Amino acid sequence: MVKEFFLRYLLRLHKAGLYAVCLWGLLVNLPVFAQEPDAQGHRPQGHQRHMQHEPEMQHQAGGMQHEGEHMQHGMVNPESQKYPTIAYDDARPARPIERPAPPKMFGDAKVGKTLAYDPDKGRCLSCHILEADGEQAGDVGPNLSTYIKAGRSIDYIFQQVWDARAHNPNTVMPPFGTHELLSKEEVMHIVAYLATMTTPVEAPVRPQREARNFYVAGEDFSFADRYIEQGEVLFRQTGVNGWSCDDCHEQGKAPDLKGRAANYPRYQASLKKVISLEDRINLCRSQHQASTPYPLGSAPSNQLSAYVKYLSRNSPIEPEGGTQTAAAWARGERSFYKKTGRLNLACADCHRVAATKWLRGQWLSAIRPGGDEVATAATWPRHFISGHDLGLISLQQRIRHCQAVTETFPQELGSAEYNDMELYMMTLARDMPMLAPTMSKLRGDD
Ligand code: HEC
Ligand code: HEC
Ligand code: HEC
Repeated sequence: MVKEFFLRYLLRLHKAGLYAVCLWGLLVNLPVFAQEPDAQGHRPQGHQRHMQHEPEMQHQAGGMQHEGEHMQHGMVNPESQKYPTIAYDDARPARPIERPAPPKMFGDAKVGKTLAYDPDKGRCLSCHILEADGEQAGDVGPNLSTYIKAGRSIDYIFQQVWDARAHNPNTVMPPFGTHELLSKEEVMHIVAYLATMTTPVEAPVRPQREARNFYVAGEDFSFADRYIEQGEVLFRQTGVNGWSCDDCHEQGKAPDLKGRAANYPRYQASLKKVISLEDRINLCRSQHQASTPYPLGSAPSNQLSAYVKYLSRNSPIEPEGGTQTAAAWARGERSFYKKTGRLNLACADCHRVAATKWLRGQWLSAIRPGGDEVATAATWPRHFISGHDLGLISLQQRIRHCQAVTETFPQELGSAEYNDMELYMMTLARDMPMLAPTMSKLRGDD
């Protein structure tokens, strides 16, 4: 309580810096990887990709790495490359369901408990209530505190943990054995632990989550306000050819941008593809300012996008119709439902199937048709704090953050996969007001 009040106080005071509020860390503690372009716009390659997850810091030499914290920021988990991604050329099927016989051994319940609680091994608390000492246990799956009463056989429980798809092909529970997250012996220890579960534990008391999970820049007093100002500065800055954005867009030489951002992503006929607003801004950078495009995900790209979206504040989201857009939308929807990564999770598993449940300390928002005031794609870029202060990040950077959770190998920012996915999510937000930029609320910060 006191701690949260203090944090809120800090935020309101606009104190810059990093908070050791490891919410996301508490929740999943999975290695996070991503490939932000560096200050020169290069994308790191292969296993050595580094994540500069704070766009604000991109101009500093060496970027920022948070090491030794819950999440191993900055590391690509090479294991994730072994599993399906949303890449359009990735036709790898899911691994077949494995049904091995349990090893002939007695599991050790104490070891099993340690494994079940370990956020890098069982991660069971992300989705299940186990014992009273399991803080912020999630409720995506059933409460297992009295699991012994279910009367399941050893073989059944072993199979459930090894590969739950044998019992429910569409399960949200990761196939721990098949995907090499746990060995047969480790699963047996966990089975032994589950066989001791007799003491009922209630779900933890949680804050209500009907309210928005963000502050709106310019309306609520938050860090996000400065991005409107920073974006406007860039908007008035001249490019290499002496032209600034406002020279054209506010002097009648080019379309007035009011309301325009509400139609993005959209099909760009000259490029024969769907582009994001950030891509469109970069087109003007190169074609109308003879200047270098801003690397996607960089501070200037996100700030300009924040400002141009701010010019569309409260305009209803209205993605274009048309066959090209419809095809892109359909591809985005397929990606949303595709199970990917080492944890074998689809976006839809968390944001539809398990929506409004708790994944450890995180309330899973619903990303669904008709939109949702609590969480909408029309609020990004957002000053995003979850575990770490990531500064202003774009929707596509947020998607990549979620892919880190599922240990899914990410796509490049601006890829067809992400642009289509963004279009899909903006279409779900149709008719909702454009609210970007925003800043995330901390849990309990309502
Ligand atoms: C991402 C969420 C998630 C994680 C992580 C997870 N589970 Fe589950 N689990 C579920 C869901 C959802 C169900 C409900 C059944 C289903 O849909 O397959 C379930 C069901 C179960 C069941 C009940 C099966 C039955 O019907 O008798 C057991 C036991 C179980 N999980 C054990 C575990 C253990 C042990 C771990 C950690 C090694 C774990 N789960 C991790 C989501 C999860
Ligand atoms: C030299 C004039 C010029 C400059 C400078 C310029 N633009 Fe443009 N912009 C245009 C024109 C003309 C269009 C209409 C499409 C086209 O012909 O490229 C356009 C289109 C756009 C659109 C799409 C509008 C829509 O209706 O979909 C956006 C967004 C945009 N510009 C933003 C910017 C930003 C941000 C900058 C500064 C980084 C900028 N422009 C600089 C001339 C300019
Ligand atoms: C393991 C569960 C999980 C999976 C799988 C997952 N996410 Fe998330 N996602 C979260 C959590 C937790 C949050 C933060 C709480 C919230 O807003 O839902 C979040 C937040 C988001 C948000 C921000 C919502 C807002 O506006 O505040 C977006 C957008 C998003 N996810 C998109 C995706 C996409 C796209 C995918 C698939 C590539 C995906 N997520 C997969 C757990 C997940």
